[in-house]
Amino acid sequence: MELMAYVWPIGGGKGGSGKSFLTSSLGRLSAGLGKKTLLIDLDLGAANLHTLVDLPYPTKCFSDFIRKKIPRLEDTVVETPVENLYLISGAHDNLDIANLPYEQKIKTLKAIARLDYDHILLDLGAGTSFNTLDFFLISHNGIFVTTPEPTSIENVYRLIRSIYFRRIRHCFNVTDFKALEEAADELYGRGAVNRPECMMEVVRLKYPETHAQIQDDFNGFRFKLVLNQLRRHDNAGLGQQICRIIEKHLGLRIEFAGNVAYDDHVHDAICARVSFLERYPYTRTAGDLRELSKSVVQTAGEQMLINYS
Ligand SMILES: Nc1ncnc2c1ncn2[C@@H]1O[C@H](COP(=O)(O)OP(=O)(O)O)[C@@H](O)[C@H]1O
Ligand SMILES: [Mg+2]
Repeated sequence: MELMAYVWPIGGGKGGSGKSFLTSSLGRLSAGLGKKTLLIDLDLGAANLHTLVDLPYPTKCFSDFIRKKIPRLEDTVVETPVENLYLISGAHDNLDIANLPYEQKIKTLKAIARLDYDHILLDLGAGTSFNTLDFFLISHNGIFVTTPEPTSIENVYRLIRSIYFRRIRHCFNVTDFKALEEAADELYGRGAVNRPECMMEVVRLKYPETHAQIQDDFNGFRFKLVLNQLRRHDNAGLGQQICRIIEKHLGLRIEFAGNVAYDDHVHDAICARVSFLERYPYTRTAGDLRELSKSVVQTAGEQMLINYS
C-alpha cells in the first residue's frame, strides 16, 4: 500500500527533548511553504500539540476514532489558526498508545496511509513500546530527536536499535523468531540478540530471501537525527559522532540532519502561547529550524506502508 503523504514520525527516547516543539515548528514551516500539513498527536496521555498550535480546546481528537465515535480518521482533523496546518489532537485522551490493541493499530496505520496531505508529522512521544515502534515504521522517513545529554543519547540509541529490531521481528512468527534468537546467541554469544546486525546475519543464513527483503527496506530508510537544545559550549560535532557510532555498532545509517540551538525564548514563547518562529524569527534557533525544515519539505520519492501479514 502506498502512502498518500510524506509521513514523518518524530520520536526520541526521552520526554523533554523537544519532540513536540520540533513537530509543531516543522509543521508551521511546512505549512508556511504552502504544503498542506497535518500534525497527529500520538503522544497520548501527554498530548500537547494543540497548545503548541494555539488550539486550547480542540473539539475532536484521535480517541474519537479509536472509540468509534467518529468512524473516519479524516473526520477527526481540526483546522488550526495557521493556514495549511491541520491537527489530529490527542487532548482529552487517557488512552496509552502502548495499549492500543493490534486491530486498532493496524486500522489506524491504514487510515493514516490514506490521508491526503503533503506532509504528515506524527508526534510519537517517548518510549519504545511495540506500538510506538510500529508507528515509526509506517514510513521510510523519520526523525529522531535527542539533546546533547548522555541520558538522552542513550535513550535515542536504544529507540533506533529497537525500531530496526522490530522491522526484523515483523517478518517472523513467534516460534521462528525464537529459533533465530537462539541461533544468534549460539553464534555470537549473549547480547547478540540486542544487535540487529547479528540478527540479520542469522536471518541471512537461514532465510536468504527474507533477509534480502528486510535489507531492501533498511536501505530505503531515510531516518534523520536532530540534536536539539545545543548550548554554546556543547560540541557542535556531537550529532555526526552519534551517527557514526550508530553505524559502527548497529550497522545502521542515520543521517545527521542538524543542530537546533538552545534558546530561552522557546520557553517564553510557549508560556505566552505564541509561535516561537513568528515572535523570534532572527534567533539562531529559528534559523536552525528553517534549515532543518528544508530537508523535510524537499523530500521526494515514493513511500510504501509496510505490509502487515
Ligand atoms: N531548542 C530549544 N531551546 C530551548 N528550549 C527548548 C528547545 N526545545 C525544547 N525546549 C524546551 O523543552 C521543553 C520540552 O519540549 P517538548 O517539545 O515538550 O518535549 P517532548 O515533546 O520531547 O517531551 C519545552 O517546553 C521547551 O521549554
Ligand atoms: Mg511531547
